[in-house]
Amino acid sequence: MSKTIAVFASARRDGNTGKFIDWIGEELGIEIIDLSVKNISPYDYDHKNLDDDFLPLMNQLLEYDNIIFVTPVYWYAASAQMKVFIDRTSDFLDLSELKEMGRRLRGKAGYVVCTSISSEADQTFLDAFKGTFGYLGMNYGGHVHANCENGYQPEEYVADVNRFVNLIKSSE
Ligand SMILES: Cc1cc2nc3c(=O)[nH]c(=O)nc-3n(C[C@H](O)[C@H](O)[C@H](O)COP(=O)(O)O)c2cc1C
Repeated sequence: MSKTIAVFASARRDGNTGKFIDWIGEELGIEIIDLSVKNISPYDYDHKNLDDDFLPLMNQLLEYDNIIFVTPVYWYAASAQMKVFIDRTSDFLDLSELKEMGRRLRGKAGYVVCTSISSEADQTFLDAFKGTFGYLGMNYGGHVHANCENGYQPEEYVADVNRFVNLIKSSE
């Protein structure tokens, strides 16, 4: 079984980010989970949403050593669906019965796969992931970015994708 899984969140499945992760996912032979088909509601201080898809999804992710977070850059940040998902990890900090589950994220590697219309992935965007991984006790493994200012042009990203895929394979 692969030690790596991807969590994908974009406003469209078959857009630039979806095509990019399908390619990378094929190279790695990994499962890609689309957050848009999950019922994950925004963070709730009263935790009235604990029976949605967040905890089953986390249980699935916790089976893996490497978790790839896949999102376009929307306004210098992750997509709204990805942000909702990340916000929900606060449930682990709030609820004593979930603390042990949250601790199981420690030592896992978090990676970022992203697209935007800039030459590089926005630093603020990447820093938010690095900060989040650090807070959760995860290690930042690295990222790969596709500049889609002229559309999705996979031939331009071959070297970056190879480097990223080899980085993950060497960790497995
Ligand atoms: C709502 C929205 C906000 C965006 N904000 C940024 C941005 O801050 N920086 C950037 O370089 N590109 C930005 N873009 C461009 C997207 O990141 C880019 O087109 C990306 O490849 C889209 O991926 P998708 O097809 O998966 O949605 C934005 C696009 C949208 C729709």
